[in-house]
Amino acid sequence: MNAVTTTRNDLPETTRHAMTERLGEVLAGVTQLSLHARMAHWNVQGPQFLQLHELFDKVYEEAGAWGDLLAERAVQLGGIADVRLETLARQGGLPGWDPARRDGRATVDQVAAALAEVARRVRAAIADAEQAGDAGTADLFTEISRAADKLLWFVEAHAAQ
Ligand SMILES: [Fe+2]
Repeated sequence: MNAVTTTRNDLPETTRHAMTERLGEVLAGVTQLSLHARMAHWNVQGPQFLQLHELFDKVYEEAGAWGDLLAERAVQLGGIADVRLETLARQGGLPGWDPARRDGRATVDQVAAALAEVARRVRAAIADAEQAGDAGTADLFTEISRAADKLLWFVEAHAAQ
């Protein structure tokens, strides 16, 4: 995120600036997650195909909704929502995606790894927002954290022996 623009929002500018940076980092991870989920949805193969195809579609839809909330919060605080490819590559932070690993178990593992990284990142961001005195952003991160934990459970349950 870049410069913080003028607003009547009464959070201190330093807080707004710190939060737009944090929101941008989480947005990059979440956007990358949605792209990974799309690849999983399209490319997964194996006996559980239909179930996994639909599960990964759910991950894609939820990650997209989180991204919208994060981006809009950043703009409300005077920032810029930035999902340029170079920004995602620099700030996304997710493990690499191997398109050759297409069987159900491997695809579940790849999506779970991406979700776990997003969950880790957003959980850390909650504490930062609380420390910065921005309860609204902390609440948004908490909402996403809870949803990411739930989705990780859904995905990991498919890998249980
Ligand atoms: Fe589809």
